[in-house]
Amino acid sequence: MKLTSIFAHRGSKGNRPENTLAAFREALSLEIEGIELDVHMTKDKQLVVIHDETVDRTTNGKGFVKDLTLDEIKELDAGTWFSKEYEGEKIPTLSEVLELVKPSNFTLNIELKNDVFLYEGIEEAVLKEVESYSYIDNVILSSFNHYSIRKCLDLYPTLETGVLFMEGLYKPWEYAKYVGATSIHVYEPAAAYYVQMQEANSIPIRTFTVNKDESIEFFIRNHIDAIFTDYPEKALGIRSQIEREGN
Ligand code: G3P
Ligand code: MG
Repeated sequence: MKLTSIFAHRGSKGNRPENTLAAFREALSLEIEGIELDVHMTKDKQLVVIHDETVDRTTNGKGFVKDLTLDEIKELDAGTWFSKEYEGEKIPTLSEVLELVKPSNFTLNIELKNDVFLYEGIEEAVLKEVESYSYIDNVILSSFNHYSIRKCLDLYPTLETGVLFMEGLYKPWEYAKYVGATSIHVYEPAAAYYVQMQEANSIPIRTFTVNKDESIEFFIRNHIDAIFTDYPEKALGIRSQIEREGN
């Protein structure tokens, strides 16, 4: 029976500053399968790993990522807002994360955050970067911008991709196939009923962000393909317990 994969959402967001190397190192120390991260593009077209369009919430700086150069972004502290213990953590580049993750066998879910700003050329830049690390077979590319997913598939037809969405779309597995994507990445409430529909499982379903014990247990017992969680260590404990029961 299919075992649910565990992805550390934005690294281990629950106990590390999200989308930092500290968070990714923590995730890599666990016996889980993957890491999810978010990518934006700087003013000088560099790929950086951060969730929001602005640096305001997760650093000591201000402004849109698209209006700052990589040098300006590297000046910022991306750890202290979370805890003094992480003072000095930086916003990583995608390249720095690939360098860190490459020795592992982790699946890297790269979420392109180009649904607000389109970041002209981000698809080519991300694929080029991943290919330069020979890591393309370990990557799932996702986005709320489905035109962007299509563009990535045109550039790299065998790429694993996930269409991201929030609401209960009708038969999204058919829509995903229409886009050419290989999986659906869906918000937890809608995933809860898709996972119980046999025809939905014709395509891998991954769901975010699953943090409550009972939700983690529900999705694992229903053999969903993967969960994204801020607490991968906890999810690992729950999965191990279920495995021991032989479910
Ligand atoms: O990729 C899954 C999830 O990360 C999407 O939502 O806002 O946490 O990037 P968000
Ligand atoms: Mg994300």
